[in-house]
Amino acid sequence: MRFLVFSASLRNDSFNTRLAKLAKLVLEKNGAKVDFANMSEFDCPSFNQDLELNGSHPQGSEEFNKRLLANDAFIISSPEYNCSIPGFLKNTIDWVSRFHPQPFNERHGLLMSASPSMAGGNRALWSLRIPFEHLGARIFPDMFSLAMAHKAFTPEGNIADATLAKRFEETLVAFMSLTEAAKHYPCMKKAWVEFLGEKPDPITERVG
Ligand SMILES: Cc1cc2nc3c(=O)[nH]c(=O)nc-3n(C[C@H](O)[C@H](O)[C@H](O)COP(=O)(O)O)c2cc1C
Repeated sequence: MRFLVFSASLRNDSFNTRLAKLAKLVLEKNGAKVDFANMSEFDCPSFNQDLELNGSHPQGSEEFNKRLLANDAFIISSPEYNCSIPGFLKNTIDWVSRFHPQPFNERHGLLMSASPSMAGGNRALWSLRIPFEHLGARIFPDMFSLAMAHKAFTPEGNIADATLAKRFEETLVAFMSLTEAAKHYPCMKKAWVEFLGEKPDPITERVG
């Protein structure tokens, strides 16, 4: 199984990047292959439909699309900005949603966050579910949010609290199992339609 893992923070010394790196180690320990990306590889100019002339896509969205297609599932550790998704992550999702076929459709995803706050950035993840589920991504029901992230890591980069560290690993292993089942047991797959009865036309079509 191959997993695209990245932190949706552009900040040096990001807590979310630390959490994403730890997820990589846990996945590899449990037998997965990890394609670790940096958010800077997926960064795009502000979305503008006028820039889509002749089917062109910014380099960052091309890269994100390619890496989604090359992996079985994706894992994002995202900061929370003002109780919601960081703007550059939503911007990149909007650009990638314009590819045909649309790569989030039927792709499994796990959401994580880290923040110095007591909520650990969890509210951003509920916001993030909305565009992903709209696009047909299979977002794992469990999420992982690391509260008080400035105090939560050991100097070696592990989660200091043993109970939380166990929950982190269990969440990742459960997500691996579901991704593997979805890949090898096609009866788990379900076709996704935007809503019942829609007949896409050039103005409304957004998914492949
Ligand atoms: C514009 C802005 C808005 C923020 N809003 C929130 C917030 O709503 N909730 C929260 O927990 N932290 C918030 N923070 C603090 C971030 O959680 C903190 O900067 C965190 O370190 C960002 O993640 P990173 O370390 O991976 O870059 C905000 C930070 C910025 C810059």
